[in-house]
Amino acid sequence: MKKMLLATAALTAVAALALSGCSTRSDDSGSASGSTDAAAAGFPADSLIGVALPSKTSENWVLAGGLFEDGLAEAGFKSDVQYAGASTTVKDQQDQISAMITKGAKAIIIGAADGGQLATQVQAAADAGIPVIAYDRLILNTPNVDYYVAYDNFKVGELQGQALLDGMKAKKPTGPYNIELFSGSSDDANSAVFFDGAMSVLQPAIDSGDVVVVSGQTDIKQTATAGWKAENAQSRMDSLLTSSYGSAELDGVLSPNDTLARAIITSVKAAGKPIPIVTGQDSEVESVKSIMAGEQYSTINKDTRNLVKQAIAMVSELQKGEEVDVNDTESYDNGVKVVPAFLLDPVIVTKENAAEAYANDPTLEPLTQQ
Ligand code: BGC
Repeated sequence: MKKMLLATAALTAVAALALSGCSTRSDDSGSASGSTDAAAAGFPADSLIGVALPSKTSENWVLAGGLFEDGLAEAGFKSDVQYAGASTTVKDQQDQISAMITKGAKAIIIGAADGGQLATQVQAAADAGIPVIAYDRLILNTPNVDYYVAYDNFKVGELQGQALLDGMKAKKPTGPYNIELFSGSSDDANSAVFFDGAMSVLQPAIDSGDVVVVSGQTDIKQTATAGWKAENAQSRMDSLLTSSYGSAELDGVLSPNDTLARAIITSVKAAGKPIPIVTGQDSEVESVKSIMAGEQYSTINKDTRNLVKQAIAMVSELQKGEEVDVNDTESYDNGVKVVPAFLLDPVIVTKENAAEAYANDPTLEPLTQQ
C-alpha cells in the first residue's frame, strides 16, 4: 500500500490530499486505534444502527442494502438503511444521516454519495458520541470518521491495468496497442485511487510506446465519468471513436466498473467496430454473462457479502466496547487523519477463472457453467 501514498501524480487535488502521506494531518488524529470515547464505552446490544448508502449506481449498492438489513438483524441490532435518491443525491444523504442521529442510532455506516460533503453531518454524529464507519468509499476532510472498510481500491486499479495489458497481448502478441482510458465519478474518493492503481501498471507501457492513448486524454479530469452514469461513458466513447478512430484500431479500454464497461461496448458495437479488450469491476450479472459470451474481458470480484459482514463485525466490536479489528493504518489519509481501515482483497476475473472465482456465489456460479 506504500505505493499508493507515493503515486499521487494523476490524482485530483482533493483525492491527492486524501491519499498523500504528506498532506496535513493533526498530531493526535492518525492513531491506529482511532476509536472515540463513546465507541470505547460500547452500547446496548439491540441498538439502532444507521446505514446510509449512495444512489444505486451499481449492483453492489443494490445488494448491500438487503445484506445490511438481514445481517444487522441477525446480529441483534435494529437497522435504518437508506439510499440517496438518483437526482438529489448529496442532500438526500445529508438529511438521512441527520435523521439517523435524531432517531438515536448508536453507530452509522456510510457509503458516501459525495465523500467531500459530509463533514457537517459526521461532526453532528461525533457531537452525539456516535461512531462513523466509512463503507467502500472514504469520507474526506474531517476528523470524524472512525473507521474505513473497503476492498483494496489501489489493488483493484492495478488488477484492471494488468488485465488490460494481458488481454490485449493474448489477442495480438505484439504492440503497439491503441487504448482509451475511463475513470469514475470525481465526487467518489475511490475513482482516483482506482485510476492511479491502473496507471501505475499502464504508464510504463505508455512511456515505452508499447501502449498508445490515441486521443491523448490521459488526465483523470478528461477521463472522468460524472455520477458513474452509463450514458456519460457511452457518449464519451461515441465521441472518441469519431474523433480518434476513423482508421485506427482500438485494442483496449480501461473501464473502472462493469456498468461503464457495458456502455463502452454498446458504443463500440453501434459504431460497427470490433469489441476491444474492456476491463470492469463489481461482477455484475450482465457483465459476467458478457464475459462468458466473450465480449467484456474482465471484471473484479469484490463480494459484497464479505464487505457487509466486515462492516457489521466492526459494529459488533464497537457495541461490546472492544478494540476494532483493522489491518491497515497508513494508506487512507482523508486530508485530516489517517483513517484506520480494514481492507479486503479484490480478485480479478476473466472467462478463464470465472467458475472458480464464483464457486461460492449462488447467483453467479450458474452463469459460468457452459
Ligand atoms: C465502488 C465500485 C462501484 C462504483 C460505482 C465505487 O465507489 O467501489 O464498486 O462500481 O462506486 O457505483
